[in-house]
Amino acid sequence: MRVLIAGYPGQLAKAIIAELIRNNIVFLAPPHYDFDITNNYQINNMISSFKPDVIINCAAYNSVEHAEEDMEKAINVNYKAVEYLVREAENNKIKLVHFSTDYVFDGSKNSLYVETDKPNPLNLYGKSKLAGENEVLSYDNSLVFRLSWVIGYGRNNFLYKFTNWITDKQIVKVSNDEISVPTFTFDVAKYVLMSLDKGLTGLYHLNNSGKASRYELASKYAKIMGFTNEIIPVPMAAFEVPVRRPLFTAMSNKKISDALGVSIPDWEDSLRIYCNALKGNADLIR
Ligand SMILES: NC(=O)c1ccc[n+]([C@@H]2O[C@H](COP(=O)([O-])OP(=O)(O)OC[C@H]3O[C@@H](n4cnc5c(N)ncnc54)[C@H](OP(=O)(O)O)[C@@H]3O)[C@@H](O)[C@H]2O)c1
Repeated sequence: MRVLIAGYPGQLAKAIIAELIRNNIVFLAPPHYDFDITNNYQINNMISSFKPDVIINCAAYNSVEHAEEDMEKAINVNYKAVEYLVREAENNKIKLVHFSTDYVFDGSKNSLYVETDKPNPLNLYGKSKLAGENEVLSYDNSLVFRLSWVIGYGRNNFLYKFTNWITDKQIVKVSNDEISVPTFTFDVAKYVLMSLDKGLTGLYHLNNSGKASRYELASKYAKIMGFTNEIIPVPMAAFEVPVRRPLFTAMSNKKISDALGVSIPDWEDSLRIYCNALKGNADLIR
């Protein structure tokens, strides 16, 4: 199997590469400037020169706040580029793996979201990601994984931002009514590869087990890392947020767990693994 990855060096792409290396799988992961998914010429070039059996698209426009202003770019990366990738994957009989988000939901449910629940995104980021996943799902030989609160060895995640906030503040406020599932990239990578191995297709929610508020996640992380800052729980409404965000978007991972015959680790167990790795090598997060 030959795997072409878009979205390197994003945090998920890095974890998938580590898993491909562990499994001795041939891959190519060009950086953003060499493989821009909004550049049709670069897509065609990568496909014809590398001849992948699988494309894993980790590239995305991920800034929920900026997407409202930067609408055209968010739509180009999360939807229009994906539309072209789907067409080329179909023409060349390549399997396409793509990632979406819990932000396709509006947060009005009070139990875990399942794949058959109707999406209703509240913001432009969620709308652009939903349009992208629908494109991918129109192609039979594809896999779409909806992820939530992705945390890996990189900067585009809540724990990296939280670590920055507390370096110059002894007291920090964190929302306790924003609830989802912290999801670690090393777990996602492992189950993505298992899904390819099993020949799965279709839509799956892929997150760690359990659920948490941002406050619980920050508190557990601070405790394990030995940070002594005071963390105060507040409602999200206490912050001036420029964009509508859903409050409850925790998803069930039952469909993928059943399909793979696995029990996906609880987020707290993976948080411990993550923190231990960081304690051993702080450069991992830089
Ligand atoms: N992060 C989360 O909390 C979260 C939550 C739910 C779902 N997801 C989904 O999970 C997937 C992986 O995200 P992640 O957390 O790994 O994000 P990430 O760390 O921000 O990585 C995204 C990567 O995509 C690259 N990229 C942006 N536009 C591109 C383009 N036009 N062509 C090629 N590469 C481009 C970025 O490069 P630059 O830095 O150079 O722009 C970055 O390296 C995405 O589909 C995302 O929507 C993420």
